[in-house]
Amino acid sequence: MFINLENNQKKIVLDTGIKECIKGGLSTVAKLHGIKDTAEVGITIVDDKKIRELNKKYRHIDRITDVLSFALNEDGGGPDIPDCPEKDLLGDIVISAETAKRQGEEFGHGFEREVVYLAVHGLLHILGFNHEKAAEKKIMRAKEEEALRAVKLSEEYLEKDMEKKLLKAALAAKKNAYAPYSGFKVGAAVMSCSGRIFSGCNVENASYGLSCCAERNAIFSAMANGGKVLEVLCVVADTKGPVEPCGACRQVIAEFKIPRIILSNLKGDTREFTWEELLPFAFTLDRSEQD
Ligand code: THU
Repeated sequence: MFINLENNQKKIVLDTGIKECIKGGLSTVAKLHGIKDTAEVGITIVDDKKIRELNKKYRHIDRITDVLSFALNEDGGGPDIPDCPEKDLLGDIVISAETAKRQGEEFGHGFEREVVYLAVHGLLHILGFNHEKAAEKKIMRAKEEEALRAVKLSEEYLEKDMEKKLLKAALAAKKNAYAPYSGFKVGAAVMSCSGRIFSGCNVENASYGLSCCAERNAIFSAMANGGKVLEVLCVVADTKGPVEPCGACRQVIAEFKIPRIILSNLKGDTREFTWEELLPFAFTLDRSEQD
């Protein structure tokens, strides 16, 4: 399938990598549905102002939207006129890069996945798929995820990528550990629901009890910078097996109910726990309020 991609906006940078991913996602959908090589789809990237104008003009909805798709004819086959130059044109997809960027940040999976997702979603609509009923939605979601997997933007790839990023941030923080008394350097990194990463290292003190662990420093840094909802914490140290957080840190992890805690060492051994597994029967405010 030929993909005619045009970028008609300047607000968000669209590098060649993203353009290739968009084309890769659309080609996967085309292959899955046996769309012929001569078929063509148009995809135009615009800003919020333009998509609002188009939404108003064609759907009579005066609102910004993320994606609009226009099938050239109902059966998705292009105009049925012999020798018509647009014979194989399936339709057009229009995406707002600004909205894709905003949504990518809100969902925490980033602009790249969002814009490719919207393109694929638009093409599936052109091919006649819908998501009004739950059963239809399930089919559409599976097809979208398959196309995203082909360009390494599916949830499982992003998750692995995110885990690598977190570990990298924790290892970088470990280098800054101030541990002249124990000589035991620890690094931690925590990700908030918007995908922001905050790191911390252990900082010791001549008055030993004042030392603070890497996990707590990372979590407190997240709080200080507005990262309220924490989703994944990664801790790393040079230990035989994955590092084991101290009791005080487990209490702090329980405070913020961090659902995923990835513990690792320098050999790459990892184990994952939930906050409840790390500190069962924890003291939390909601529990004490029930009493
Ligand atoms: N430490 C951490 O930073 N995190 C842990 O999970 C365990 C212990 C630090 C505290 C202290 O600076 C050093 O390791 C030795 O206990």
